[in-house]
Amino acid sequence: MDINIKAIMAIPTEQLWLYGAAAVCVIWILVWLWRDNLEVPAISEKYVFVTGCDSGFGNLLCKRLDRRGFNVLAGCLTEKGADDLRRATGPRLKATILDVTNTASIERAMEWSKKEVGDKGLWGLVNNAGRSLPMGPTEWMKVQDFESTLKVNMMGVIEMTLTFLPLLKQGRGRVVNVASVLGRVAANGGGYCISKFAVESFSDCLRRDIHYFGIKVCIIEPGFFKTAVTSLEPIERELHRLWNQLTPEVRDCYGQKYFDNYIKVQRFIMNAACDSDLSKVTNCMEHALTACHPRTRYSAGWDAKFGWIPLSYAPAFVIDSMLKFVLPRPAQSVS
Ligand SMILES: NC(=O)c1ccc[n+]([C@@H]2O[C@H](COP(=O)([O-])OP(=O)(O)OC[C@H]3O[C@@H](n4cnc5c(N)ncnc54)[C@H](OP(=O)(O)O)[C@@H]3O)[C@@H](O)[C@H]2O)c1
Repeated sequence: MDINIKAIMAIPTEQLWLYGAAAVCVIWILVWLWRDNLEVPAISEKYVFVTGCDSGFGNLLCKRLDRRGFNVLAGCLTEKGADDLRRATGPRLKATILDVTNTASIERAMEWSKKEVGDKGLWGLVNNAGRSLPMGPTEWMKVQDFESTLKVNMMGVIEMTLTFLPLLKQGRGRVVNVASVLGRVAANGGGYCISKFAVESFSDCLRRDIHYFGIKVCIIEPGFFKTAVTSLEPIERELHRLWNQLTPEVRDCYGQKYFDNYIKVQRFIMNAACDSDLSKVTNCMEHALTACHPRTRYSAGWDAKFGWIPLSYAPAFVIDSMLKFVLPRPAQSVS
């Protein structure tokens, strides 16, 4: 190919810089895409443990990993959940009962996994199990309402990870923790946002501490998706329970109109914002488990990518004002 030096020399210097910068950007993007698409070999020899597989993301992920040839170890909360999953998948998927709030149950799951993986160790631990309720105004909560969520979403993740760490070190594997956009923006009272902020910080500390042993830590930050966690019926049932347990003085502070409008806002948000394509989340989990160079954070869903995550970098007053605009005002509000 003849390079026309004269023609290049005739291009103004500013334009040359511009072309150079554009070329560097294109090359950088191409290299990034190539690197991002590199996959680990020998998937059929790898074992992945997933928690919370009865329904939602965990259930779909198990089916997808099974189809890809992984040896899936599925932790289900109920016997029915485990049976249904076994029926829907191939012989390589094994299911066990696991309650992440129960130390004995976690120990049993670890001993069972140890026998399953043999000398290969564990390639992946997906801490997916979670619950969201109760969610609502902070003043409506009792301490136990926070504890019930934190036990599953925060302490469950920590205890599972610490218990399975020897197997993960053996397999030079990965920890994939399911956080949430609500672990970046605290938009709801109750234990959920607190627990997901905790998952974010636990994962950051863990990643910085254990990369020396070849273990990678990934955080999945889904936006709003249609699963049991965002189902309106239990959300409303819990809001009624919280409302009914308030003292008459506190209830008067808010007023019946506040309660009715609060429920309407929840209905609007859950109906308008929830995406039914759960594969947007499981694709991220799969990438974290199969990529040679998994990402530290995955934001799943358009609302996460273009709404919640950019908003998480905004000054607090922006989110405060938005929530003030969306949520109703208590009857005895003074500001
Ligand atoms: N859906 C969303 O919009 C969204 C957004 C961001 C993050 N997330 C997170 O994604 C994860 C999966 O949730 P999902 O949306 O797929 O909802 P889901 O269908 O309710 O899945 C959660 C699973 O965890 C199980 N579980 C609850 N308590 C448990 C315990 N103590 N021990 C073991 N398993 C337990 C549930 O079992 P049962 O069904 O038997 O209770 C269920 O199978 C959760 O960590 C959630 O916080 C969800």
